[in-house]
Amino acid sequence: MLLFLPLSMSCGPGDAEVAAEACETQSAGWDGWGRGFFTTWCGACHSATTADRRGAPVGSNFDSWDEVWAQRARIEERVLVDESMPLGGGLSEADRAELKALLACDDDAASDPGDESVIPPASLDAAGVAARADRVVAGGIPFASAWFDGFVDILMAHADPTCPEGANAPPYAIRAAIEGCVTADGWMFSGLTLRETTAEGTGVREVVVGDGWGRDPEGRSLVFGGELEWWGDGTGADALWESRIDGTWGYEGAPGWQGEMPSLSFAAAGAAAEATLDGGIAFVGAVVYFDALRLDAAVCPGSIAGGGLRVRDDAGYWTTLTFDEDCSACGAATFADGSSIGTVCVDPAPLWASLVGYDP
Ligand code: HEC
Repeated sequence: MLLFLPLSMSCGPGDAEVAAEACETQSAGWDGWGRGFFTTWCGACHSATTADRRGAPVGSNFDSWDEVWAQRARIEERVLVDESMPLGGGLSEADRAELKALLACDDDAASDPGDESVIPPASLDAAGVAARADRVVAGGIPFASAWFDGFVDILMAHADPTCPEGANAPPYAIRAAIEGCVTADGWMFSGLTLRETTAEGTGVREVVVGDGWGRDPEGRSLVFGGELEWWGDGTGADALWESRIDGTWGYEGAPGWQGEMPSLSFAAAGAAAEATLDGGIAFVGAVVYFDALRLDAAVCPGSIAGGGLRVRDDAGYWTTLTFDEDCSACGAATFADGSSIGTVCVDPAPLWASLVGYDP
């Protein structure tokens, strides 16, 4: 038995092959999950743009895939082996597994698509892909301004004269450093949040950089880590807007996937009756990437005018869905190995419901 075990293991795909497979999805892995992860958990200290590195070595930044890749050995050692990073801990097993898969990528394999035969068969059929896409779409468009307002609403609903202390009035106008306090009604808040408001054109741009936690009396977490940015100009039918969320912003008490501590690297721009959606949303049970998905009332009212979605399976492989231009909100879905898995349709109604009436 002892001799047999290593022999039987050598018959399976080697580590190098496994790494090569993972690299097929390298850039999607960074855009869909990695950027949000590093912004959320590391960016407060390890970023070229952070206001306070809190002792993180100068130059030890994880703002881009190239930087992460160059420092992968140290990242692996500190996060996965001796677990001394992120400072303060708190990573879930799922995040650790994702990080391990991301770092398993290998430069050469990334530029060379490699042997496609090592990709396992698609584990999701058309219905499975549609179910994951619909779960993400059901949350509507994640607008940075709405998410920040949601956080401030929670804070305002529970704040009392002593907690939080040290926030500009109204809370988070510019800067809030909450050392860790408990409100009279039993909420705990802590963290550091900076907000910058600048006039741009005839509109206003807002940037909020945050790193903080809350806990409600039932023990459910509120997490705001990363960066939110939005710009708005005009109101009603004349409004133009842009929105970006990089990081994790969620509350376990919120309905839908916003309650599952989603990690996002998501940008959108639009006007009253149109929007283009780009980027990844990851939460328990679904990782979906928007590829320039277009909403346009002049072309496909209430439906999808173009672009696509990528849906990840549990093994890390993506199925790419490209919407037809016939306003059906359906399109052909292709698995990572190039095989077709048929036609997938999504329900675009929640995206429209959030867009109509949005006022930045
Ligand atoms: C609250 C601030 C903070 C956060 C958040 C944080 N770090 Fe650090 N990190 C530090 C400090 C301070 C050091 C230097 C002291 C040390 O090495 O322990 C450091 C050192 C490191 C080093 C060693 C750097 C080198 O060049 O020797 C690595 C790698 C690292 N961190 C990775 C991470 C990763 C990955 C994350 C996110 C998952 C993270 N850190 C989150 C503060 C932070």
